[in-house]
Amino acid sequence: MGVGVGAKRPSPMVIVALRSKSGRRSASKDSEISQLFTSYKLRDIEFPNRVFVSPVSQYSSDDGVPGKWHLVHLGSRAVGGAGMVMTEATAINARGRITTVCAGIWNDEQAEAWKPITSFITENGSVPCVQLAHAGRKGSQERPWLGGGFIRPEDGGWQTVGASAEPYDEGWGTPDELTESDIDALVDDWRAAALRSLEAGFKVVEIHLAHGFLGHSFLSPLSNHREDSYGGNADNRMRFPLRIVDSVREAWPEKLPLLVRISATDWVEGSGWDLPDAVKFSKVLKEHGVDLVDCSSGGVSPRQQIAMEPGYQVPFADSVRSEADVPTAAVGLITEARHAEDVLESGKADVIFLGRELLRNPYWPLHAAIGLGDDTPWPHQYIRSKPVS
Ligand SMILES: Cc1cc2nc3c(=O)[nH]c(=O)nc-3n(C[C@H](O)[C@H](O)[C@H](O)COP(=O)(O)O)c2cc1C
Repeated sequence: MGVGVGAKRPSPMVIVALRSKSGRRSASKDSEISQLFTSYKLRDIEFPNRVFVSPVSQYSSDDGVPGKWHLVHLGSRAVGGAGMVMTEATAINARGRITTVCAGIWNDEQAEAWKPITSFITENGSVPCVQLAHAGRKGSQERPWLGGGFIRPEDGGWQTVGASAEPYDEGWGTPDELTESDIDALVDDWRAAALRSLEAGFKVVEIHLAHGFLGHSFLSPLSNHREDSYGGNADNRMRFPLRIVDSVREAWPEKLPLLVRISATDWVEGSGWDLPDAVKFSKVLKEHGVDLVDCSSGGVSPRQQIAMEPGYQVPFADSVRSEADVPTAAVGLITEARHAEDVLESGKADVIFLGRELLRNPYWPLHAAIGLGDDTPWPHQYIRSKPVS
């Protein structure tokens, strides 16, 4: 589809008027112009456009409770025009955090603290999504700006847990291998976190099964050496992640979307989890009620060799979308509006996630729309700063 050629575009005045009436960006435009700024629907949720905020850990919570930083940080991305605003990896229990200052949603105080954030995002025309996570053997780390690295339990960290009792790398803690009853308890924690997310005002949940965190550490043969029904062949390795998906799907209302982030490959040549496994897993995820697969990669092994270039993970979103017949998100080194638009126009993904580019510029969506010759509503408060074409 061409960008802006011959298409009818509402004037900014019309957009402002329509936005006032409906409070929703998507109702404000004839969306035949760019794919990126065409609204998108999953179940009963309509996203005003297809620029989604990728989860980015902020390491700024106190006992898992999000605060003013989160309100301003996530709120700015809603004001900046993103179609969906996702939280950072939000732990389903205390040991599921990456660092002592990661956000969580395992108690009522945390759920309560998310409420002003979700309502601000919603009031400003976007859709709030929580990424639920458990860091597994990659937990108990120092925050990056203090040098990162594993913190031992005796130094204020905690005993980590994993698929097998093997550390991620030298210098990391050896996790406790989860017993079957630990797994049952964790499934309950995921369900409780989903219920609290609903109570907190989130409209979308993403389950984090990527980056070497707990779910991924069960999926990958590089980190799962169990001898029970949760280890061994691929079906067994998928068993715990699928129990998580089922418990969240059961708790999460039918009318609201559920996303899953996967690592489509471990980037370890000749061994490890790879794209064919990701396609197979995505087919099963769809059968289990997952609405969109967010295709990331890597993180399970320090031996990974990643071929980094702009859009380097787009081929994963493309293969999963066409071979598993499920909607996908493309993410990773996408920074230009034209590139994002091309990915959508060529049918390689359904939505685009932006991580670092939206850290650099929370107003990227507002400017991207203009760059594509399209339009998207600006906040009333900023309308006098909108470039006139
Ligand atoms: C500082 C930082 C924190 C991140 N935190 C998370 C996270 O909490 N959960 C997650 O799934 N990915 C996380 N990511 C990965 C991003 O969501 C994204 O997939 C990655 O940065 C590639 O996209 P980009 O090139 O647009 O930044 C993080 C990335 C960065 C740079």
